Amino acid sequence: MKYTYLDCLAQFGVGGAHPGGLSLTKEMFSKEQIDEKTTILDVGCGTGQTSAFLAEKYKCKMTCLDHNEMMLEKATKRFRSKNLPIDARLGTIENLPFGEKSFDLVLSESVVAFTDIRQSLSELIRVLKPNGVLLAIEMVLEKPLSEKEQTSIMEFYGVSRILTESQWNSYLQKAGFHQIKIEKSQMTLEQPEFENTTDFYLSEQLDEELYDILDHHEQLTKKYQNVLGFRVFRCCV
Ligand SMILES: C[S@@+](CC[C@H](N)C(=O)[O-])C[C@H]1O[C@@H](n2cnc3c(N)ncnc32)[C@H](O)[C@@H]1O
Repeated sequence: MKYTYLDCLAQFGVGGAHPGGLSLTKEMFSKEQIDEKTTILDVGCGTGQTSAFLAEKYKCKMTCLDHNEMMLEKATKRFRSKNLPIDARLGTIENLPFGEKSFDLVLSESVVAFTDIRQSLSELIRVLKPNGVLLAIEMVLEKPLSEKEQTSIMEFYGVSRILTESQWNSYLQKAGFHQIKIEKSQMTLEQPEFENTTDFYLSEQLDEELYDILDHHEQLTKKYQNVLGFRVFRCCV
């Protein structure tokens, strides 16, 4: 295949490309105390749907970052069109271009699993202020899967492992996070994020193969609806 799953999201410009989509994001933030002074980093921001929503609703100080140029370009155009003062940076989560203790809250919506998990968590904790909060939405393995099935899922999504809830918990603890709260949303992974958002920013000339990747993603989420789930992780520095 010429394209990865993440290339496909970038080419279609899927906004809210995480389980639960913008509805889950809104639910998560309804429980947080955010105001104009709150500094928030949205890592792996994609096309910037969440960053734009947070900047508009809370007028907070938003920064976002993604390593995919196409995603970041689409995010930047979105912010410009809405006249939102969001600092959008090209960079990797494993090596964040920010100083220590820069943010009150870091948000990672379906991102860390695609990265070097240990290195990313260590960077997230580094850039959070004391008492800062990490909110993360991540895929979890609910039931055991054969190695062959796991490998085919991992290869398709380009992830090196599919962690269970308790494995995520232990990664977060080892990284130094405290007060780890894990929530299982009522929403399911099978309710495609594509339905949960009206937000697409299509590139010109979409290759046929990209539609096949979207189809394959939908088939996988249907087939493994009782095996692959997701959790909202909330933890503090
Ligand atoms: C599933 S998408 C989620 C995008 C966005 N958070 C959302 O919910 O719409 C994962 C995003 O993480 C970005 N990403 C993956 N690995 C990354 C890395 N190592 N550093 C920075 N961004 C990364 C991808 O480019 C992509 O935009």
